[in-house]
Amino acid sequence: MDYETILTETRGRVLLITLNRPKALNAINRQLTAEVIDAATRADADPEIGCIVLTGSARAFAAGADIKEMQAATYAEMYGGDRFADWERFTAVRTPIVAAVAGYALGGGCELAMMCDFILAADTAVFGQPEIKLGVMPGIGGSQRLTRFVGKSKAMEMCLTGRNMDAAEAERSGLVSRVVPADQLLDEAMKAAETIAAMSLPIAMMTKEAVNRAYETTLTEGVRFERRVFHAMFATRDQKEGMAAFVEKRPARFTHE
Ligand code: HXC
Repeated sequence: MDYETILTETRGRVLLITLNRPKALNAINRQLTAEVIDAATRADADPEIGCIVLTGSARAFAAGADIKEMQAATYAEMYGGDRFADWERFTAVRTPIVAAVAGYALGGGCELAMMCDFILAADTAVFGQPEIKLGVMPGIGGSQRLTRFVGKSKAMEMCLTGRNMDAAEAERSGLVSRVVPADQLLDEAMKAAETIAAMSLPIAMMTKEAVNRAYETTLTEGVRFERRVFHAMFATRDQKEGMAAFVEKRPARFTHE
């Protein structure tokens, strides 16, 4: 597939996806949605890719769903086409995905960042769910994921008033894993991604699945799920290699099997 709204680049075992609609501050239209999902699901099917980095520009990760594209839509079109349901294919990707966010991550942009596995933020990052100012509300998981990330009070305030938060507040409230100087964002994201991609891919996928379980089930069920997956890891070669390497005091050479 030839992409027009994103750039993709494979760096070793990492796929870098850069949102690229600069004139619209990377607003998420249907084409960009299809292209991001296509690139991510292809990478997921490729054992040579161990991590994906999703980023935007210095000015905007993404300023939201494309308002101009949505403006005239009818209820029948939104409901009939189940608009935004395709993003479930993105959240089903098993390969770890790091969001590297600089500038605006608003509305659907904030939601897209939250659909990744963790968010690294530049000190210029601005997060918000301003949809209420447009007469709508978050539509790709923002009302649910933001609440799980930052708690009810802050999520409610942001969704009801449309107030943005800066990078420092986002880190303080647990929305992002770390804040780094803007000029180091991509390097830091690539470093984290290369570290992940050097691990065993099946083990990283199982780890992602286990952490995500914490959002979807009770503590008792989640701990049981974790234990069963932990047991299953002993069927992999990489568990044998990782532990042998430790005992033999040498770096592990994972073969992703
Ligand atoms: C379409 C957008 C856009 C968007 C910006 N642009 N955001 N186009 N959809 N979400 C376009 C502008 O129209 C403009 O193009 C160009 O990008 C530059 O934007 P400016 O507004 O001129 O830039 P600036 O003054 O720097 O302001 C930046 C901004 C502002 C604060 C980010 O653009 C803004 O408030 N954008 C909308 C943010 C928002 O409401 N997001 C939520 C969208 S709803 P032209 O050609 O006009 O100059 C949403 C729903 C989610 O996300 C639910 C399901 C997905």
